Order: sequence, then structure tokens, then C-alpha cells
Amino acid sequence: MAIIAPSILSADFANLQRDCEMLNQSAADWFHVDIMDGVFVPNISFGFPVVKAIKKHATKPLDVHLMIVDPDRYIKAFADAGADYLSVHIEACNHLHRTLQYIKAEGMKAGVAVNPHTPVSQLEDIVADTDLFCMMSVNPGFGGQKFIENTYRKIEKLKDLILRAGSKALIEIDGGVDGNNAAKLIATGADVLVAGNYVFSAANPTATIESLKAI
Ligand code: DX5
Ligand code: ZN
Repeated sequence: MAIIAPSILSADFANLQRDCEMLNQSAADWFHVDIMDGVFVPNISFGFPVVKAIKKHATKPLDVHLMIVDPDRYIKAFADAGADYLSVHIEACNHLHRTLQYIKAEGMKAGVAVNPHTPVSQLEDIVADTDLFCMMSVNPGFGGQKFIENTYRKIEKLKDLILRAGSKALIEIDGGVDGNNAAKLIATGADVLVAGNYVFSAANPTATIESLKAI
């Protein structure tokens, strides 16, 4: 049974409290919160006031995914805004090891997000310091994109790396997750499934979350 983390990016921002309460009542485990700066990715999502507003209503952990350059500048601000998990992109960090220590020092779990083109071999020397790998299964920037099939191969390699290191790091899959690929992702080694469009565009989001949780 995977951890299910619906992505707020696909929520109705004019009815954010309603959508937060729907997630509270549902089988969802975490709230996935996407932060985009228009530089690291070609899109801008939302910032601290919105994260704080979500935190006010959420009764489940906030899993914050930073798609921003130089994330060190904002680690404390995200801790103050209520992040429980904070993931930074390996491609955006010059000193990733130090960044992960900063995140933990602020009392959060430390995540490393990995773009589709970044080889798993680059994670070898950071695995012992990482609580969560956010493996991108689309190019980050937008919800509702098509799942990249090569992700399965990367999960296998990452699982092997984690097991060999004796690490407890979780593997999260982010992008294009739906009812067609969720079972295979879990069978391959995924621990956490993010789902945006699949949940929020469904006629019954609560039942859709329940169906992912039941796999
Ligand atoms: C993409 C984001 C994802 C996105 C997933 O850049 O990191 O979290 O919200 O949305 P879906 O599930 O619609 O691909
Ligand atoms: Zn994300």
C-alpha cells in the first residue's frame, strides 16, 4: 500500500479550503505542494501565503516540492510556512549535501527531486542523507503531462541503490501517475505516488484517491 500524495497544483485555487477539506476527509496521506519560480521551470505556481493558507486547513503532512533555483535562500521560510517534507532538485543545488543538512536542521525531512534526464548513478553518494527521492516521471513545470515510461527502469536502479546502502529513503513518483500505471509503479518499488490531474479532474476525487490507496 503506497503513500498517496495528491498535488494541490491541480486543485481549484478559488476553492482551496474546500479542496483541502476534501483531502483531509479522503484516504490521502500527504498534501503535495509544488513551488515553481519561472526560472528552474517554465512556469510559476504560488508562494508562501498560499502554503500558509494550505497549512491552516491541512490535517496531513505537507510534502513541498521546490522547483526553484538556489533553494537554500528559502529553506527557513518553508519551515516557517509549515513544510514537513522539503524536496530540492539535485539539478538546482551546487552543494546538495549541505542543503539537505539545512533542511534537517530546520526540523523537516529532506528530499531530493530528480529530473527525467538525471541518471540514478548521481544519487549514490547522497542516498545516506536523503529521506525521500522525488523521482520526476514528467519534465517538471506543469500538471497533466504524459508519464515517461523510462521511469520504471530508474525506480529499479534507485531501489537497488537504497537497499545496498541500507537506507530508509522513500521513492516518490511525480508526474502522470494514474490508474493505468500506479500498480506497476508500486510493484517496481515506488513508496509514494503523487497525483494531480488524475485526482482533481476526476468526477469523484475522493473515490479516485481511495482507488489508488487500495492498490
Ligand atoms: C510537475 C509537478 C507535479 C504535478 C503532477 O511539475 O511537480 O507534482 O503537479 O501533476 P500530474 O499528476 O497531473 O502529472
Ligand atoms: Zn511535484
